[in-house]
Amino acid sequence: MEGAGAAAVKSEKIWMNGSLVPYADARVHVLTHALHYSTAVFEGLRCYETPKGPAIFRLDEHIERLFNSAKIYSMKVPYSPEEIKAAISETIKANKFTECYIRPLIYYGLGGMGLTVPEHGTEASVSCWEWKTGESAAGKTTGARCKVSSWTRIDGRAQPVKAKAASNYANAVLARMEAHRDGYDEAIMLNGAGKVAEASAANIFVKRRGAIITPPLSSGVLEGITRDSIMRIIRDDGGEVLEHDLDREDLYTADEIFMVGTAAEVKSVTELDGVNISSGSLGATTKRLQELYTKAVTGADERYLGWLTYL
Ligand SMILES: Cc1ncc(COP(=O)(O)O)c(C=O)c1O
Repeated sequence: MEGAGAAAVKSEKIWMNGSLVPYADARVHVLTHALHYSTAVFEGLRCYETPKGPAIFRLDEHIERLFNSAKIYSMKVPYSPEEIKAAISETIKANKFTECYIRPLIYYGLGGMGLTVPEHGTEASVSCWEWKTGESAAGKTTGARCKVSSWTRIDGRAQPVKAKAASNYANAVLARMEAHRDGYDEAIMLNGAGKVAEASAANIFVKRRGAIITPPLSSGVLEGITRDSIMRIIRDDGGEVLEHDLDREDLYTADEIFMVGTAAEVKSVTELDGVNISSGSLGATTKRLQELYTKAVTGADERYLGWLTYL
């Protein structure tokens, strides 16, 4: 999940279709195809300050997922992965950020209405902004209050859930809105088979009877890059992590629940549907993983330096 409120997006420059433009000029036409039919794919990355300067966390994996998402939607991206990587560095530098969230977007633009996509209309942009959500950095002792959503997580038979596509997020936004309306911070979604899938914008892990478990990719979740990083960190720390289906009841009886994602980082769930998890406070495993993750992303743990791309 992201922070509880909407992120305040502010920057000097945005990269659009090959050049940096002032924030106020980064506009699209009202007949942009993506605006009508959700034909856009995107990524969310973070740049962190490290002892050797600002570095982007797992840049290659994010760009690979971006281009795979575009491929699933048959988008002819007019830039190479290397050009998008260069655009990301350029945009961060132009905004003089040392830490920020980064949002590359590829979308069908202008060139005709109707479901048929514009043949030459694929456009791209890179935005970045400061977005601090780190729970451990904020010294919080309680985590998110969540509810199991009445909305089912979209099914891979209806839409490609492995694509990080804008269209998938209408489902997530409905879940998030419902959670907020009902007084919670975040939603946890079940899949069509009633098994635990993920939060609206984060993967989920549960500690139960000493084991750390996360739903498998076959549960219809996004193949999260933080999920992959956390699994590696748990194993390197001598722990075991299992991928198997979880029922809703497994959440209520969990010792700890935490959500992971680029925006959310490692965020604990300390209440679900009015039931206290981990006695309503941050669990020891969640806390340890928050510390280890922070070290990994900020270049303080040399085992993970290979995950960093310096600006
Ligand atoms: C639906 C969903 N699941 C999981 C994640 C976590 O993915 P990642 O760790 O690659 O940021 C996100 C991130 O935005 C997401 O939107």
